[in-house]
Amino acid sequence: MSVVSRIKRISTPQIRGRKGAEPIVCLTAYTTQMARQLDSHVDLLLVGDSLGMVLYGFDSTLPVTLDMMIAHGGAVMRGAERACVIVDLPFGSYQESPEQAFRSAARVMAETGASGVKLEGGTEMAATIHFLTQRGIPVCGHVGLMPQAVNVAGGFKATGRSAEEALLVTRDAEAVAEAGAFAVVLEGTLEPVAAAITAALPIPTIGIGASPACDGQILVSEDVFGLFSDFTPRFVKRYADLGSQISAAAEAYARDVKARTFPGPEHCFQPKAKG
Ligand code: KIV
Repeated sequence: MSVVSRIKRISTPQIRGRKGAEPIVCLTAYTTQMARQLDSHVDLLLVGDSLGMVLYGFDSTLPVTLDMMIAHGGAVMRGAERACVIVDLPFGSYQESPEQAFRSAARVMAETGASGVKLEGGTEMAATIHFLTQRGIPVCGHVGLMPQAVNVAGGFKATGRSAEEALLVTRDAEAVAEAGAFAVVLEGTLEPVAAAITAALPIPTIGIGASPACDGQILVSEDVFGLFSDFTPRFVKRYADLGSQISAAAEAYARDVKARTFPGPEHCFQPKAKG
């Protein structure tokens, strides 16, 4: 008989219901252990395709595959009991057609047990979001700075600086909401634009570099805890420096091994005393 968890997981309709209420706390997670540590502190864990850069050392998120996302999605689900877990659809797994998106999202849902998917894109993705949500797949949108479009945008750049850009990102967010998304990530968007979008939309906005005006916030956990230093966006507040602590601990371990002081006698298997 399977063991049924007594902790009730936060659902995507509950996240949707937090519009205009208590801010939604979100972080990324890619592993079981990180999910376990974060689970009781957050409302939502995103298995982001940022794992391509943060865990795998790629220059962008473009090389990430659906199989990678499914493997990490399953790992996070094994560590989180309470948080709503959603998984990013990676580049190339959904842009071709609503049908392709459905096949990819259905694999994510069936093989990981996650509660929904996130995908990048505004007006151009509205038909796909509608197709998925009508077929049982909760979708979180992602507009503004879209890392999968880095080659078209010419870099990881904030948006909403000009009136034209502000109009574009507003239209994108509205299209995603009208298509049936339960929430939308607003990335790299100026405060007045994020505030106006948040006031206008019926669904929660989850900001990343988009000001406290949003209904919730998300950051990459490795940025927050000082575990990724290749590149730290200006808007990230670092709450710990675990990277330095790991280096110092590794240095101490190496010192002990070289001095033959590790493992100490209390950690060794000793011959049994006779008699
Ligand atoms: O991939 C990711 O981690 C993301 C968040 C940073 C929003 O999309």
